Amino acid sequence: MRISFIVNGKSVELDVSPKKRLLDILHDDLDLISVKEGCGKGECGACAVIFNGERVNSCLIPAFQTDGSEVITLEGLKELPGYAAIERAYVEHGAVQCGFCLSGFVVSTVAFLKEKKSPADEEEIKEKLAGNLCRCTGYTKIIEAVKDLSLQEDLRRQPEAEVSHYVKK
Ligand code: FES
Ligand code: FES
Repeated sequence: MRISFIVNGKSVELDVSPKKRLLDILHDDLDLISVKEGCGKGECGACAVIFNGERVNSCLIPAFQTDGSEVITLEGLKELPGYAAIERAYVEHGAVQCGFCLSGFVVSTVAFLKEKKSPADEEEIKEKLAGNLCRCTGYTKIIEAVKDLSLQEDLRRQPEAEVSHYVKK
């Protein structure tokens, strides 16, 4: 089938099998290697992307659903002004070990921050990031990084404005 959709602000057209997953399209066909396969069944969050404005696991999205959609991967988020602060917080808190889970966590962090109007507490962060698994078990440091980020009012608002720039044209 022929699909056309927007990825990181750019229009893309591809011929794909309807059974192909968004994960494969992004990683294999479009070379967006931040989108990783962990469990392949919606449990680990390694394949997380923003899909029509919502954080989703791309291993669960079949090709036919991608037609007409708007997708943002970590590669797109890196272009956002707020990205540097997110990266810095993860590094300063020592939240990166092998790095396999990182892109999924960052996608979830942006999706979380863009909905946040006030600083987050630990329980709330745990709940919101529950869909992301870290094989290196660096959860405490990741939660600390996100808590720190949620204290920054400009950052909480910035991703919303900037992500919307991509998603709602
Ligand atoms: S690979 Fe998609 S949730 Fe694990
Ligand atoms: S840092 Fe290794 S899987 Fe999370």
